[in-house]
Amino acid sequence: MKTLLTGGAGYIGSHIAVELLESGHDVIIADNYSNSTPEVIKKIEGITGKPIAAHDLDVSDKNSMENLFRENTPDAVIHLAGHKAVGESVNEPLKYYRNNLDCTLTLLETMKRHNVSKIIFSSSATVYSAQGHPPYTEDMKTGECTNPYGSTKHMIEQIIADTAASGWLTSVILRYFNPVGAHSSGLIGESPRGIPNNLMPYILQVASGKLPELNVFGNDYPTRDGTGVRDYIHVVDLAKGHVDALKHCENNTGVEIFNLGTGTGYSVLEMLGTFERINGVPIPHKIAPRRAGDLPETLADVNKAEKILGWKAKLSIEDMCRDAWRSHRNAAPS
Ligand code: WQD
Repeated sequence: MKTLLTGGAGYIGSHIAVELLESGHDVIIADNYSNSTPEVIKKIEGITGKPIAAHDLDVSDKNSMENLFRENTPDAVIHLAGHKAVGESVNEPLKYYRNNLDCTLTLLETMKRHNVSKIIFSSSATVYSAQGHPPYTEDMKTGECTNPYGSTKHMIEQIIADTAASGWLTSVILRYFNPVGAHSSGLIGESPRGIPNNLMPYILQVASGKLPELNVFGNDYPTRDGTGVRDYIHVVDLAKGHVDALKHCENNTGVEIFNLGTGTGYSVLEMLGTFERINGVPIPHKIAPRRAGDLPETLADVNKAEKILGWKAKLSIEDMCRDAWRSHRNAAPS
């Protein structure tokens, strides 16, 4: 299928593009490169040996999207475009509501005009209510998000559900847990701008000497070792889940929601220790106060994706640490 990836030049989008191309799909990318670079397109083509139609545009721009769909109508869309930094969303909520909702509304209106009826949406475990107890199942309560970023994801899920209920849209909503790692080639990966918010990008900058030490945000949580537990999933496993979701969209209608995680949680200290052991690189660290908004533990119940999509994560936390480090070193300026 000819698949449009909005935000397809980003960390997760680029890995999805590789898996789609290697599964025989054609890929169109629409990205404004606000959190990526056009270089990524060449790297995806280098990995797969296949061409990509890439468009430098803002998904919220009606004219650009109309021209794109008129020129090259996709069979389906995977919607990733949007701002995604939790902390920034707390400081600049209007920027997040305006951008993330406008991108989605413009995309859906354009899809309707061009009879494109299949969308896969990149959602997040953040939509689960903080009152819920992990492992989270897809029918658990959502909303009451602890940040505007999560609220935009929750609102977009609602927009998609209501649009599908009006009869013309089929959708798979994928709730990502904590994506980490990189393609084994080392050619694509995560390269956040500025001081990283997330754990693995921060560890990578400590490992490469760019930052002096890791602050472990709290060691007094009710977890195995007191530090926060997360369901880390290799970004390649996550990307493969989108190929299976696309197949589901081809043969079904309505809306289905799936968790994309592993069902296994690791603490901050366990992730840190695995990284040191696998890569032979010490990660200086100190215990710091808890970070506002953090939960003690998040964990996916992954039975539904396995049963209905036939998808299950295969790569280990060791693979995540090894592949993340290789990609980071590859990207480092020589
Ligand atoms: C993981 C653990 C921190 C940094 C976020 C988004 C979520 C999703 C994934 C988009 C926590 C601890 C972190 C550091 C630390 N993104 N930590 N020191 O917060 O689980 O989820 O990213 O969908 O929506 O909310 O990920 O990597 O920031 O934190 O101790 O310098 O590492 O306390 O326990 P998080 P994270």
